[in-house]
Amino acid sequence: MDWDRLLAAATAARANAYAPYSHFPVGAAILMEDGSIWTGANVENCIPALGTCAERNALTTAASAGLRKPRAVAVITDTSPPSSPCGLCRQILSEFIDPDDDLPILMANTRGEREETTLGQLLPHRFKLRA
Ligand code: THU
Repeated sequence: MDWDRLLAAATAARANAYAPYSHFPVGAAILMEDGSIWTGANVENCIPALGTCAERNALTTAASAGLRKPRAVAVITDTSPPSSPCGLCRQILSEFIDPDDDLPILMANTRGEREETTLGQLLPHRFKLRA
């Protein structure tokens, strides 16, 4: 897995975060099966519930282009240890992952710390509409 490339894309996306309320910019990048990389940043709103997370924006951008097979995700913040995707994003990311598959996730921060995990570790026993 070429984490450096995916993390560079997430880092670039983070620069576009719109986080005037939390002051917590997040960048995410998602690698799809076809090799393409799609990015997202968090975009907040004066109605707090309307803000969207970086991971969700990255995935929905890829999905909106017709892509359905995520292969890896990188997310970057400036927390130590690196922040993990929120519960909502874990569920969103699970949408296109087959029950027997998993999704590698790199959590990183601006200080160069990296932690690798998987969706299966972050969201065990995830909900499936069908058995
Ligand atoms: N945020 C993300 O973009 N991804 C996450 O996984 C957790 C939180 C954003 C939402 C909000 O704009 C800010 O970080 C603070 O919660």
